[in-house]
Amino acid sequence: MIVAITGGTGFIGNALVEALKARGDQVRLLSRTRGPYLWDPLAGPPPPEALDGADAVVHLAGESVSQYWTAAAKRRIRESRVAGTRNLVEGLRIMHTPPKVLISASAVGFYGDRGDEILDESSAPGTGFLPEVSQVWEAEANAASGLGIRVVTKRTGVVLHPGGGALAKMLLPFKLGLGGRLGSGRQWMPWIHLDDQIGLTLFALVTPSLSGPVNAVAPDPVTNAEFVRALGRALSRPAIIPAPAFALKMALGEMAQIVLSSQRVVPRALEQAGYIFRYPRLPDALAALYL
Ligand SMILES: NC(=O)c1ccc[n+]([C@@H]2O[C@H](COP(=O)([O-])OP(=O)(O)OC[C@H]3O[C@@H](n4cnc5c(N)ncnc54)[C@H](OP(=O)(O)O)[C@@H]3O)[C@@H](O)[C@H]2O)c1
Repeated sequence: MIVAITGGTGFIGNALVEALKARGDQVRLLSRTRGPYLWDPLAGPPPPEALDGADAVVHLAGESVSQYWTAAAKRRIRESRVAGTRNLVEGLRIMHTPPKVLISASAVGFYGDRGDEILDESSAPGTGFLPEVSQVWEAEANAASGLGIRVVTKRTGVVLHPGGGALAKMLLPFKLGLGGRLGSGRQWMPWIHLDDQIGLTLFALVTPSLSGPVNAVAPDPVTNAEFVRALGRALSRPAIIPAPAFALKMALGEMAQIVLSSQRVVPRALEQAGYIFRYPRLPDALAALYL
């Protein structure tokens, strides 16, 4: 299979590129910084040779949301995804033979802050910055379905691996015994092991019944308090120092909503399509990471 990947230099993308190469697929990395397929998502459609003959496109590029949300940062977060995805789809529109499938990143941020409500792919979006960005981002990707391309928007939860993402940031304080729940700890925190994030992406590439939104989360959502307890246990460290919501809001600003929002998300579409999770339970996922 020839797979074109944007954001392939990032945390998830890098692991995906390795997995595809390991099984003998041909990978085309579209990157702002790394050749041969240089592409700035904001500048216009990708170079045609990057997409030509590709069987699939995986679109992961986007400005990191893990930063202080100044007005300029919010603009970058939004535009890199919205204009970037629109430009990618423009590139697909002018192809003679477009790829069969586009897998485009999205996030559980789509659902906003929802208390104990169980959220599957049919649930309505939430309100606020991330739900708004996620909706337009997905809409831009879904425009490719008008070209006969199967589109999967992967609403990803917190991807667990010590090599990046939220867990990498949490490890040091937890290892120092300074970890604990965030806010009340009652907020639901959808998570997924990196291996399953890659596994379900490979599964989505070849599963025609999957299209539209797909919750990319393990089937065992936990509250933040349960998560930090499990992480403390995996590290054999106490996890009893809470970070109050007001302190998080002062330190992180508006971005604190990422860790304080409650999203009890379940992977309904993946389970219906028959995806078998390698790490369905949190303690096993953490143990497999050898933290
Ligand atoms: N990690 C998670 O837990 C998580 C959870 C939910 C959703 N997601 C979504 O999944 C996707 C991949 O996540 P990740 O953690 O692998 O991301 P990442 O490590 O931050 O990598 C994203 C890639 O996007 C490109 N990029 C960065 N800033 C950009 C900008 N301003 N404009 C255009 N391209 C830019 C970079 O590639 P180049 O420098 O090569 O161009 C970068 O390697 C993202 O869209 C993210 O929102 C991730």
